[in-house]
Amino acid sequence: MQKQAHPAMSWSLDNVPYHDIDITAVRSREDLFYLVAGASFIEIAADLYTDNLIEYFNDQPEIMQWLVDYWKFEETRHGHVLRDYTKHVWPEFDWDRAYASFYADYSVQCTQEALEPSRCLEMAARCVVETGTATFYQALSGQANEPVLAHMASLIRADEISHYKHFYQYFRLYRTLDPTSRLKIFRAIARRVMEARNSDAETALWHVYMVQRNVDVNSDKTEFKKMCAQFSQQFRQYYPLGMAAKMLMRPLDLPKAVSRVVEGPLVKVAERVIGKKTSAKPEKQAH
Ligand SMILES: [Fe+2]
Ligand SMILES: [Fe+2]
Repeated sequence: MQKQAHPAMSWSLDNVPYHDIDITAVRSREDLFYLVAGASFIEIAADLYTDNLIEYFNDQPEIMQWLVDYWKFEETRHGHVLRDYTKHVWPEFDWDRAYASFYADYSVQCTQEALEPSRCLEMAARCVVETGTATFYQALSGQANEPVLAHMASLIRADEISHYKHFYQYFRLYRTLDPTSRLKIFRAIARRVMEARNSDAETALWHVYMVQRNVDVNSDKTEFKKMCAQFSQQFRQYYPLGMAAKMLMRPLDLPKAVSRVVEGPLVKVAERVIGKKTSAKPEKQAH
């Protein structure tokens, strides 16, 4: 049961060696097909909310420049490498058709109104999103039985952590300019965590499913829901709960002693919420 990319793998996301993919190992992994294709949709569609954010920070040239030159560029690149991986391993899947239908649906959900009421809270919310992606790719890397995918996921994870650090730094800046209570920050974080649980991922997976199974938008979703529940059961074994708890708590800026006390019970609550039984492998450190 191979889990990690070979240490000799020194390539970056600019030059993914698609020809080295162990196709026989991964082609039959339906879970990986859905996770990789679904993630590629959400990453490529990042331009929708990047533009919302740029508009929100349009008098802040430094932030705008980072959002355009680094963040948007890197999120889109994540999408492109995941798309190319999908096309390479599962060429019979009509990626372009599925993405077009996803985009039409998703672009309606991604509006300016979805942003938080203050810049400080929006930066806290962005930290939640990056926590979600960093932990997703860590779990994907652990679940991948194919070395190129495992390495690709760990490189994307590193980018997501770097995004988190940038948003966190901007969050601190705005919290100084516009002092915001812990309760407000907590509410913004909790709101975004609850939203993230079902919306984006389910939309992406549903559009992959419709094209893959050749069903239309009005079809009964029972089978689809069953499949998602099964995938998420597997995925949970690799999900780094401790890392997620640390990253989510950081903007609350709790005293160290309080953080230590809260972290353990928080992980236990999260375990109950997502129904995780055991950790399949030790977590890597986020920072
Ligand atoms: Fe990304
Ligand atoms: Fe990111």
